[in-house]
Amino acid sequence: MKISVINGSPRKENTTFMVEAFRQGAEAAGHTVEEIRVGKLKIGGCLACEYCHGDGNGQCVQKDDWEKVRPAFTESDMVVFASPIYYFAMTAQIQAAIQRMYCIMKPNATKAALLLSSMSPDVYAGAIGTYKGILGFTGIEDMGIITAKDPENSSEELKQQIIEFASKL
Ligand SMILES: Cc1cc2nc3c(=O)[nH]c(=O)nc-3n(C[C@H](O)[C@H](O)[C@H](O)COP(=O)(O)O)c2cc1C
Repeated sequence: MKISVINGSPRKENTTFMVEAFRQGAEAAGHTVEEIRVGKLKIGGCLACEYCHGDGNGQCVQKDDWEKVRPAFTESDMVVFASPIYYFAMTAQIQAAIQRMYCIMKPNATKAALLLSSMSPDVYAGAIGTYKGILGFTGIEDMGIITAKDPENSSEELKQQIIEFASKL
């Protein structure tokens, strides 16, 4: 499978630790993994101008870094959303990337997973609600949700858990 990981963190710490473990397991199982680090990309929010559904024919009126994300939605078999929790949600950057999917409406991927990192426990409902909403809307199959708070989000135990999860996809 071709797997795209959309990483919403602007830094290479806990979420990226989880993504690297995912990559290790998935690649060992023969999958290809491409990570798109949207945390530092410049992706504007959807303007709801409907250009993409009219004259734009699937293209967005905004010419920004979303074009770097588009292939993750149009060319992969599986999309993994990976993000720190910021104020009980995924980061603004990954949410912008998700909402700009409006110009293609639905990804071609048929499978998805969610990796979330936080400081506190029990802060995942908002992000999981968004993820499950997207899956319900698109018909994409959920392969799993892994959440980890500090300090477990950089532990060897978590690494092994994610490697095992990814190697069984
Ligand atoms: C702007 C901001 C908002 C945050 N909001 C929350 C929060 O609501 N709940 C929480 O548990 N952690 C929160 N955190 C902590 C991060 O989710 C946590 O440190 C996470 O592991 C960071 O992942 P990273 O190392 O991949 O950036 C916040 C951090 C930042 C910078």
